[in-house]
Amino acid sequence: MRLVSTVTEMTSTQSLVKRPLGLVPTMGALHEGHLSLVSKAKDDNATVAVSIFINPSQFGPQEDLQAYPKDIDRDLSLLEKLDTDLVFIPQATDIFPVGFDTWVIVDQVAQRLEGNSRPEHFRGVATMVAKLFNIIRPDNAYFGQKDAQQVQVIRRMNADLNLGVNLVALPTVREPDGLAMSSRNAYLNPQERQDALILFRSLSLAQQMYREGERRTDVIRKAMKELILSNSAVQLDYVSIAEPATMNELRLIQGETLVSIAVRIGRTRLIDNTILMVQDE
Ligand code: PAJ
Repeated sequence: MRLVSTVTEMTSTQSLVKRPLGLVPTMGALHEGHLSLVSKAKDDNATVAVSIFINPSQFGPQEDLQAYPKDIDRDLSLLEKLDTDLVFIPQATDIFPVGFDTWVIVDQVAQRLEGNSRPEHFRGVATMVAKLFNIIRPDNAYFGQKDAQQVQVIRRMNADLNLGVNLVALPTVREPDGLAMSSRNAYLNPQERQDALILFRSLSLAQQMYREGERRTDVIRKAMKELILSNSAVQLDYVSIAEPATMNELRLIQGETLVSIAVRIGRTRLIDNTILMVQDE
């Protein structure tokens, strides 16, 4: 496993490696969710690169940039076990040097949900991912459906700017009790960890109502909200039932539909989502 810590070295390395080259962008504090992306990338590619960079530009001023969990030694040993070829760990000053002044702004699809709650977030994500695509020039790049809107924002950017990377989105990896794995779960105390199950429960409720034939989104949204608000330790940010490609809210469920939620438990903000699949009716 080769460690690369500068943009210059990464740019010269990628041009020499065996292709296809698969990239898994991360912010570290790796868990089974991240590792599922690396494993799939290993299956598909001759060379796998994982980037670890806590991207300051995707955190808002009141957010958890300083507190974001960090354990590089552990991350490296996990990546070593998966036989990762390259790990790119750049410095912030190399990625955003003095004078940096160019941003990638994905418009409509980035404005709703997370974009509404975290105004500059997707500008930071899109710019960072575009930079990684240019520095590493992957053939394939792997993302988790856990961040469903992020996947759509990156798909839009990749298509609109003709970046030519093949994007692969993989299912959310969950704890045995249903909680979606997230680096931010480390912030939760035992009581909050218990309260956090409300995300998976409310998504399961949506799945169940859908299976039983409910197609009116206001009815499903209301039931989900009632369930979430029944726990006073949980603050609701949003419940959304939307068309996946555009994130436009729906009135009636017809095609494949994305149900997503964001809540705050104590000081921790958590998101999760599920897809309602079209069934034969
Ligand atoms: P990070 O939160 O570290 O996530 C890295 C990748 O792992 C993302 O594609 C994310 O969707 C995926 N992931 C996280 N939890 C997952 C889970 N439980 N199951 C499956 N995949 C999961 O997302 C980012 O970093 C950043 O925004 C980044 C894309 C690196 C740009 O800075």
